[in-house]
Amino acid sequence: MDVKDLSKWTDEQVFAKTGQHLDSLHKSILESVLQRQNFHKIAGNNGYSYDHVKREGAKLWKLLSDVFSKDIEQKNVRSILENKAGSTIYNFVNSPQINSNTISNSHVNICRKNPQSLEDIEKRSPSSQVQNQLPIIDLTTAPELNYNYGRNSETSTLKEWILEQTRLITIYGLSGIGKTALTLKLISEINTQFDYIIYRSIEHLPKLINLKDELKQFFSQSHATPLPEIIDYFRSSRCLVILDDVQNIFKTGNLAGQYLTDYKDYCKFFQQIATLSHQSCLILISWEKSG
Ligand SMILES: Nc1ncnc2c1ncn2[C@@H]1O[C@H](COP(=O)(O)OP(=O)(O)OP(=O)(O)O)[C@@H](O)[C@H]1O
Ligand SMILES: [Mg+2]
Repeated sequence: MDVKDLSKWTDEQVFAKTGQHLDSLHKSILESVLQRQNFHKIAGNNGYSYDHVKREGAKLWKLLSDVFSKDIEQKNVRSILENKAGSTIYNFVNSPQINSNTISNSHVNICRKNPQSLEDIEKRSPSSQVQNQLPIIDLTTAPELNYNYGRNSETSTLKEWILEQTRLITIYGLSGIGKTALTLKLISEINTQFDYIIYRSIEHLPKLINLKDELKQFFSQSHATPLPEIIDYFRSSRCLVILDDVQNIFKTGNLAGQYLTDYKDYCKFFQQIATLSHQSCLILISWEKSG
């Protein structure tokens, strides 16, 4: 969900509760605040005085507080709405075009689900990586790509999210834009955070059970006894799994992110990774967002 979607969703909730939609200024204030703009900027952009926008902003927070039964104000509106809209945080980072000959569109979008709270991270017992062991890395099937420049803001956001132990990150955008290259570059910068790192493309549509077997085989290398499920490895070690070309398991010509009939179990798997408690990270790379 991006800012426009979140604002549309919010408007629908307001309409359901009050029978009235947000007016255009309230919508504009909401979207601007969600994009972390201050009232001075919003006033300038909308041609109103600062005082007027501030007053209308106060009315908007009051309305939203009533609709969502929460004390909503400028500083917490984004996190409350994101949580209400499904505990989902999406951040969109645009960056300058890398190379006009090869990059068809400059936007690599990144989003994450379920970052862990600092408290959770602190409570967790240290993994072996904290004891300075080298990670076990399998990039044997990753393509060799150039990565020379650009996308600094995406890289630093992704690093931040990984440090915060975000469980599921999606990187999506048009083909050829540099999603895989960006992710492989990122791995070289964050590998000390993990015990295991593995890259797999699902271009050739592996059944989930086969992919899971492959991952389990990889993670079991330094375990005396193999663990039953991927989530068990995700809990006992810090694992980073990169699944590339995820769009291949989506239906074409349908609403974005609908799964092919025989691949619906992937959806459940991704949801589990996003919601269950563990200390690992799954990065999905795709042309479009998963559903
Ligand atoms: N920052 C960069 N600097 C230099 N070259 C880059 C950069 N990012 C990508 N490229 C080059 O652009 C080409 C496309 O990149 P990449 O394969 O990562 O795109 P993609 O978004 O993963 O595409 P697809 O969705 O088709 O897999 C590659 O040849 C890659 O080396
Ligand atoms: Mg790619």
